[in-house]
Amino acid sequence: MKVYRSLVSLLLALESCSAYNAWGYTNQSELPYYGQVPPVYPTPVRNGSSNSEWAAAYTRAYSLIAQMTLEEKVNVTRGFTGTCVGNSGSVPRLGINPLCLADAPDGIRGQEFVSSFPAGIHIAATFDRDLMYQYGAALGEEYRGKGINIALGPVAGPLGRVATGGRNWEGLSADPYLAGAGMGMITKGIQDKGVIATPKHFLLNEQEWRRRPTLGLGEAVSSNADDRTIHEMYAFPFMDAIKAGAASVMSSYQRINNSYSSQNSKLLNGILKTELGFEGFVVSDWDGQYTGIASANAGLDLVMPDAGFWGGNLTDAVRNGSVSEVRLNDMVARQLAAFYVLGQDRSYPPPSIYSSTQKHLAVNVQSNHKSLIAEIGAAGTVLVKNVNNALPLRNPQFLNIYGYDAQTSPSPWSNPSRYGGGYEVNFGWKTFNGTLVTGGGSGGSTPPYVVSPFQAIQERMTAQNPPGMLRWDFYSGNPSPAYVNADACLVFINAYASESFDRVILTDEFSDDLVNNVAANCSNTIVVLHSTGIRLVEAWIDNPNVTAVLFAGVPGQESGHSLTSVLWGEVSPSGRLPYTVAKQQSDYGSPEVVNGSVSLDAFPQSNFAEGLFIDYRHFDRESITPRFEFGFGLSYSTFSYGKIGVSDLGGNLNEFPDPQVPIVQGGHPWLWQALYNVSISLTNTGPQDAHEVPQLYVTVPEPGTPVRQLRGFERVLLKAGETKTVVFSLTRRDLSVWGVVAQDWKINRGTYGIVVGSSSRNMKANATIHIA
Ligand SMILES: *[C@@H]1O[C@H](CO)[C@@H](O)[C@H](O)[C@H]1NC(C)=O
Ligand SMILES: *[C@@H]1O[C@H](CO)[C@@H](O)[C@H](O)[C@H]1NC(C)=O
Ligand SMILES: *[C@@H]1O[C@H](CO)[C@@H](O)[C@H](O)[C@H]1NC(C)=O
Ligand SMILES: *[C@@H]1O[C@H](CO)[C@@H](O)[C@H](O)[C@H]1NC(C)=O
Ligand SMILES: *[C@@H]1O[C@H](CO)[C@@H](O)[C@H](O)[C@H]1NC(C)=O
Ligand SMILES: *[C@@H]1O[C@H](CO)[C@@H](O)[C@H](O)[C@H]1NC(C)=O
Ligand SMILES: *[C@@H]1O[C@H](CO)[C@@H](O)[C@H](O)[C@H]1NC(C)=O
Ligand SMILES: *[C@@H]1O[C@H](CO)[C@@H](O)[C@H](O)[C@H]1NC(C)=O
Ligand SMILES: *[C@@H]1O[C@H](CO)[C@@H](O)[C@H](O)[C@H]1NC(C)=O
Ligand SMILES: *[C@@H]1O[C@H](CO)[C@@H](O)[C@H](O)[C@H]1NC(C)=O
Ligand SMILES: *[C@@H]1O[C@H](CO)[C@@H](O)[C@H](O)[C@H]1NC(C)=O
Ligand SMILES: *[C@@H]1O[C@H](CO)[C@@H](O)[C@H](O)[C@H]1NC(C)=O
Repeated sequence: MKVYRSLVSLLLALESCSAYNAWGYTNQSELPYYGQVPPVYPTPVRNGSSNSEWAAAYTRAYSLIAQMTLEEKVNVTRGFTGTCVGNSGSVPRLGINPLCLADAPDGIRGQEFVSSFPAGIHIAATFDRDLMYQYGAALGEEYRGKGINIALGPVAGPLGRVATGGRNWEGLSADPYLAGAGMGMITKGIQDKGVIATPKHFLLNEQEWRRRPTLGLGEAVSSNADDRTIHEMYAFPFMDAIKAGAASVMSSYQRINNSYSSQNSKLLNGILKTELGFEGFVVSDWDGQYTGIASANAGLDLVMPDAGFWGGNLTDAVRNGSVSEVRLNDMVARQLAAFYVLGQDRSYPPPSIYSSTQKHLAVNVQSNHKSLIAEIGAAGTVLVKNVNNALPLRNPQFLNIYGYDAQTSPSPWSNPSRYGGGYEVNFGWKTFNGTLVTGGGSGGSTPPYVVSPFQAIQERMTAQNPPGMLRWDFYSGNPSPAYVNADACLVFINAYASESFDRVILTDEFSDDLVNNVAANCSNTIVVLHSTGIRLVEAWIDNPNVTAVLFAGVPGQESGHSLTSVLWGEVSPSGRLPYTVAKQQSDYGSPEVVNGSVSLDAFPQSNFAEGLFIDYRHFDRESITPRFEFGFGLSYSTFSYGKIGVSDLGGNLNEFPDPQVPIVQGGHPWLWQALYNVSISLTNTGPQDAHEVPQLYVTVPEPGTPVRQLRGFERVLLKAGETKTVVFSLTRRDLSVWGVVAQDWKINRGTYGIVVGSSSRNMKANATIHIA
């Protein structure tokens, strides 16, 4: 213990020297001190005061708790091995059944007859709230159909601080507003079907290396972020999910300011349960509990997948007063109230879960979700280059198809638990696992089938009368050419990522060479890139023979159909990049993976010294020209933007929300009040019906704040020639900064800049709002 402590202070001392300027501090002794979590105790005891549904649920929960013994209460706070990925303890005497918890955020993992939806990063690229809601609702239907009580998603941790982060694809976007919109809509969609959503991982789960303690090495990495950054960036998207009613939240594996998130009282008791008024329960990540008494008192409510440090030890701890019975009752109440508030006591199906040893009647929960999956797949496909009218394809007669990503994997797909896919280069070994439809690890989905790009292209070519023709070579890096008569050469490559490791580079040589080798002899080369996130394209983007490039994301089971609807022009692309594509990896600046696997640090430290300045906020501040900016994407049509109109909705513009107004689930109610409406007219000036995605960015009058931050977007369908007026509502939260002294959201006095554009850099109109 003693050795540890002095090691920590040594590390902290060393870091301070290099880090303090980045924080804007000139006096080193005023530097915020890492390694200290402001203590927030005790855990707020909830009672459902947020609304009448929660109140009724809490009343029922407490009347049950009144009948429970100490052992029975302790029993429901822990996991047991059982049917599901997670199973809470039951109380047979009182008819309290185990709750079934299951992955994944983009489709139920490891089950038969379930759908594989596009990944989080793909739904974010649609910039479409309605699709986000439908996505959540369809997922909810499947979870419910399988009798799963608790869905482990959606994901906003990672947010995407590190460009190479291994789980960024499970999350939505490196922009907290876009991520928040998705978190809110997906949570609402899931819970409208009666399933408990579990926004995760709370918080700062931004890298995979050393995310957990490593035997013989030391503790997990510590994500060290300041209070303002935590609020305005990382906790921000969770606010939307909690506002939408999320009844559960999962903690992260990492340490935050050197205190594990599952026992971090500032995060759980403070931000989540006080500021955000969270009525639900906090569940640990699997084996992500590291102490018993400390985690109970810091606000953890349920440990998975077993007893962890609780079980009989928690009983003892309550008996000897280390954990109060009030705290234990609150843990149980939060879980039971979540169950009641979602109506799961009324006719919830029993779990119908795959087992390798037991044949059973598998419930088919796919419904007609495949059409929604195909629609989202197309809507999240981003066209970033299109010259010489390469796309859409016009009645092509002869196409060449290249690359390992065009086809499903040649290796068997029989393992029910996980679908591989993707070209793996991270560890130096190379395998061709076929087209990428989902990522790896617990966030991966389990497709019932995979429509590959090649299959869907064949369907198109054979639907013509007479049929067209195809030539292909999937696995060669320098394919033998059949170019001469071809209308186009389509090259399919991908970038895979998985839980438990981070990517090392944002490109790979084999795929880059493949593109250039095809382009060397084919003057109409179209690149399709399935990618778990940022992928650099400098090796070939300026090659004049590369005429079109699609960032086709992580599209799920209907991959090929989504793609061909864009290639053949039925769908005009409207996907927008939910991250910045740089010209070189170093352009992303300081946020990097702390590679604990090569470091012998017992306490690896990851300082979020860049604060608010990740992704486009960083590129804007440093005036770095990206290859493709955040929010960018081309269309087959063209649009014109009118002038901005601003209307003051007459809301309260006090600097701070009224402290007399009670906090409810989602935080102070005023934060969500619309204060201004910003309108703009939009005309489709091109030849075909198409969606456009106008985006609103705000400049807040506060020093040290990113010059532009996304605060509105809308995906708008416009017929050729049609004009529509788009209205964005700006809430108090949209205009506020987190005041670290006041510990509250603050609206500044001064002039706010408003710009509307077709990306974060292509501004079409602007206006100002003056708050006196
Ligand atoms: C730096 O801050 C410390 C603590 O606030 C203060 O005592 C000291 O005078 C400051 N030094 C300078 C040079 O301003
Ligand atoms: C982490 O430390 C920073 C710097 O002292 C502080 O601003 C922030 O509130 C802390 N957050 C947590 C969750 O400990
Ligand atoms: C319910 O909880 C809220 C928030 O913690 C608190 O302000 C209120 O006094 C509680 N009401 C009752 C009846 O306990
Ligand atoms: C605790 O939960 C387990 C698993 O559901 C169950 O078998 C056991 O009977 C429960 N214990 C009590 C005391 O209810
Ligand atoms: C109590 O915790 C210890 C580890 O600290 C563990 O070995 C033991 O199994 C736990 N006991 C119960 C009853 O869970
Ligand atoms: C109370 O019980 C817990 C769990 O057995 C134990 O870890 C702790 O040391 C005990 N505390 C006291 C003061 O006896
Ligand atoms: C890719 O396929 C190889 C066998 O061809 C297998 O060993 C490997 O685990 C697969 N990778 C993934 C990520 O599925
Ligand atoms: C971490 O270091 C190891 C050993 O050098 C290396 O193999 C691995 O690729 C590195 N990981 C990252 C994410 O940089
Ligand atoms: C291009 O085509 C020529 C003639 O067919 C062939 O010799 C050459 O190898 C091809 N180049 C590449 C890079 O495939
Ligand atoms: C483009 O393709 C043509 C063949 O169609 C070839 O002659 C030319 O060298 C290619 N250019 C590049 C830059 O690869
Ligand atoms: C403001 O815009 C919202 C849509 O974002 C709309 O529902 C509301 O009616 C508008 N309010 C006014 C006063 O125009
Ligand atoms: C706002 O619009 C004016 C007039 O078109 C233009 O000169 C100015 O550069 C714009 N400002 C921003 C921040 O886009």
